[in-house]
Amino acid sequence: MPTFAIIGSQWGDEGKGKIVDLISREADVVARYQGGNNAGHTVVVNGEQYILHLVPSGVLHANCQCLIGNGLVVDPQVLEEEIQALEGRGFEVRSRLLISEGAHMVLPYHRLLDAAQEKLRGKGKIGTTGRGIGCAYGDKVTRVGLRLGDLRCEKVVREKIKRLASFYEPMFENVYHEKIPSAGKVANDLLELAPKLVPMLIDNVTWLNEQLDAGRKILIEGAQGIHLDIDHGTYPFVTSSNPSPGGISTGLGLSPRRIDRIAGVAKAYTTRVGEGPLPTEFDEEFGNRIRKEGAEYGATTGRPRRCGWFDAPVVRRSTLLGGFDEIMLTKLDVLDGLESVRIATHYRIGGRDVPVFPMGVTMETEIEVVYEDLPGWRTPLGQCKAYEDLPENARRYIERIEQLLGIPITVVSVSADRGGAILRRSGFFA
Ligand code: GDP
Ligand code: IMO
Ligand code: MG
Repeated sequence: MPTFAIIGSQWGDEGKGKIVDLISREADVVARYQGGNNAGHTVVVNGEQYILHLVPSGVLHANCQCLIGNGLVVDPQVLEEEIQALEGRGFEVRSRLLISEGAHMVLPYHRLLDAAQEKLRGKGKIGTTGRGIGCAYGDKVTRVGLRLGDLRCEKVVREKIKRLASFYEPMFENVYHEKIPSAGKVANDLLELAPKLVPMLIDNVTWLNEQLDAGRKILIEGAQGIHLDIDHGTYPFVTSSNPSPGGISTGLGLSPRRIDRIAGVAKAYTTRVGEGPLPTEFDEEFGNRIRKEGAEYGATTGRPRRCGWFDAPVVRRSTLLGGFDEIMLTKLDVLDGLESVRIATHYRIGGRDVPVFPMGVTMETEIEVVYEDLPGWRTPLGQCKAYEDLPENARRYIERIEQLLGIPITVVSVSADRGGAILRRSGFFA
């Protein structure tokens, strides 16, 4: 099975970075297909923490080539800084990183507009990461965006920025009353970065398909999570791309026929950053406790993450959308020491049992969450190496989730470190 996709099944931050790093040791290529530097993927190796925002999480393995697909929006300055930071920590990046010439660029206009729009939304804000992601995708869709391939030609960069400035400048001045950099400065800054980034640009469609034809193993890394999907998430409290598998085909130029195995990553509980529905959200006191245990602060913005119980209807919807073969369950250790643990098995809405998180849920939807309580475990899980090492009640919790979702849990992660994972099936590409 040469392609294996790892996708967030909740609202992001499920531990995809850790899982991708784990599987990367068996992969030849790690490819990302959507999102931008709104993502923060954490990998911990021997106590050293790495947070990746744009570079695929396979970069820590010397055997991997990494691909940034056409479906991403790339802030060129942030990418260059991320590459330099990795180089500063001893990783060779430029010879292994390939970037689609079709990926769009996040420009200063997008960052400033993201902030200005959030300010204007006031109480109705989305709680974006402020990285300009939605605005960059907006320009892509309205067909005025700049792609990384444009960096090859100074004339093209200057002309396209001039055209963009012709509508952004009056908009910022008259509507948002914000100062923005001149078109000349925006273009000059891009052109300064161009010699560093252009050598890594490729046509990812031919390259990736050639890799597959040569029998190389491709690990596909999702960012965000299915409930943040622009089409399938809790709109409008979503991001502006498709973390669900459709995004793989458009964002990498890979036919759906060539996606062989798909795993959903799920936290053993639920978190989300930013606004929007979270039916199993803890009360403040317990929320603070789990946030502390799980270090639940955004890897990109540092904002406290909202926390709640494991929500089977949420992951059932993702399983439908994602076609998951399996679930990889992370952060089970965070629930150590609780008297009992809860799982939301289904909802009751308008007097009916609802097993799958419905489309169109808003903050106003009256959802009664139906929980099942299971006994907790007292022994810490962090040192467990094999499934049999886990206390019986932890295994019961895992197996109940499997039963509720109808798919196997193949990896159980019990600590942030690379070594802290229990594999229940050998060979990720087998
Ligand atoms: P991603 O965006 O899906 O890659 O996830 P993040 O990196 O934003 O957030 C996951 C956080 O949980 C990071 O701080 C990880 O280091 C940490 N983490 C991942 N797996 C585990 C685990 O099994 N146990 C614990 N305690 N922490 C974990
Ligand atoms: P990873 O890849 C968690 C959330 C933001 C906000 C909404 C829209 O680390 O799982 P955006 O800046 O994308 O326009 O913000 O989406 N969000 C994430 N939440 N993890 C992420 O990425 C996220 N990327 C965006 O908090 O609610
Ligand atoms: Mg994250």
